[in-house]
Amino acid sequence: MTGRDIAVGPIILLGAPGAGKGTQAKLIAGHYGVPHISTGDILRDNVSRRTDLGMKARAVMERGELVSDDLVNAMVANRRKQPDASRGFILDGYPRTVAQAEFLDQELEGAKAPVVISVEVSYNQLLQRLTGRRSCPVDGRIYNIYFQPPKENGVCDVCGTQLIQRVDDTEEVISERLKSYERQTLPLIDYYSRQGRLRRVNGELPVEQVMEQIFRAIEGGAAAANSE
Ligand code: AP5
Repeated sequence: MTGRDIAVGPIILLGAPGAGKGTQAKLIAGHYGVPHISTGDILRDNVSRRTDLGMKARAVMERGELVSDDLVNAMVANRRKQPDASRGFILDGYPRTVAQAEFLDQELEGAKAPVVISVEVSYNQLLQRLTGRRSCPVDGRIYNIYFQPPKENGVCDVCGTQLIQRVDDTEEVISERLKSYERQTLPLIDYYSRQGRLRRVNGELPVEQVMEQIFRAIEGGAAAANSE
């Protein structure tokens, strides 16, 4: 049996900015053959295309604050109903407030229960990861000048495009993002612990080892959800 034979259902990746949610979500999506739904990526795409949604979100994102619950709830509700998400999907960066989590619980009523994975990384490590992050604007690959450098400085290994730094990866905005995380997202750890769904993984290990812990958590969680 391969990962693609497992009906994983909804997978929620929780974690502070820079914890490695996007890095891991891409690996999980490839392994299980389910879509990676990143609210940050969808919002950035809208900002770059200057859509109405992008125009509403841009200034908020540049300050490191959270976009309104209504906007992101609608985005995720639409995306998860696409046919490619029928066996499961990975939520990266959503939910991020208790109100979003309550909305998602209602949306998933009667469906398979989510597996919730908290990727845990210390504060100092988060700062280095965020200031060192570079990404490919074409294929979305994520690098880090300290921990995961591209083979050639500043250039994507796969497509050769010049790497970019996100506008919200400056020290000032990072500090605001971490504050928003503590105030608005950290309460979700308790929220999902109380539901008995939370699985914690050590996000400070090398990428492959974090991935292995997540696969184990997903397969243990998917088996438990199937027997509910
Ligand atoms: P979003 O894009 O979701 O950003 P974030 O949560 O701040 O998370 P990041 O993308 O910064 O980090 P990550 O955990 O994905 O880490 P990554 O894998 O890149 O949100 C951006 C903004 O959009 C928000 O501020 C908000 O305004 C808005 N928004 C989004 N969702 C919203 C919602 N639900 N509600 C309201 N507003 C919302 O890794 C980071 C770096 O570390 C990389 O360089 C990587 O190479 C490196 N790295 C990863 N893993 C490892 C490892 N194991 N060892 C060493 N280095 C590693």
